[in-house]
Amino acid sequence: MNFDFTKVAEDLINYGWHSSLDFFPNPLLEDLRGTLLHLNENELFRPAKVGKGIKQKRVAEIRGDWIKWLSEAGDYPSTKIYLEVMNEFRLVLNRELLMAASEFEAHFAIYPKNTFYKKHLDRHKNNPHRLITTTLYLNKNYEDKQGGALIVEDLHKNHVVTLNPHWGRFVCFISSDFPHEVQTTTVERYSLTGWMRSR
Ligand code: OGA
Ligand code: MN
Repeated sequence: MNFDFTKVAEDLINYGWHSSLDFFPNPLLEDLRGTLLHLNENELFRPAKVGKGIKQKRVAEIRGDWIKWLSEAGDYPSTKIYLEVMNEFRLVLNRELLMAASEFEAHFAIYPKNTFYKKHLDRHKNNPHRLITTTLYLNKNYEDKQGGALIVEDLHKNHVVTLNPHWGRFVCFISSDFPHEVQTTTVERYSLTGWMRSR
């Protein structure tokens, strides 16, 4: 498969963020969605927690999503290809952005109807290893009125962009620079979110 990582890297250099709708081919999106649904049918998703280590707890007033880390999901052709692509992307980012990301981690996320994730930063003092956030949306026939938009701000609280979770939308941003929130979704919302991490 051929991926235009350089355009994404250029956007990250110029703006700090990127969004596109056709980065991943449709068959791979279908397979990833199939894997997400399969894992969910087997009740393998768990409520996402906030905080770190032993201080982790479920706070539904902050985030209401359920997640499954790919590292714990077992081997699927879809996630294997996705991780291969993202690791190739990681090497391009290291070269183009002079980063030193040593790994890529990712989880599927399901936001049940009427859930959200309040404004937060992905990189902070408790989680200093996240360099780049990536999200891929797996919602079929999504309509803007269904909610669940990703709202991105800069560090001065200026609105940067509102991104609806359309089928195949691929979003990346520099984890330390963009506070963001997931608005309340009125339908079940599917995504695959990951981070380029330093050690
Ligand atoms: C996250 C997050 C955004 C989204 O999981 O940290 O901000 O649009 N997700 O799902
Ligand atoms: Mn986040």
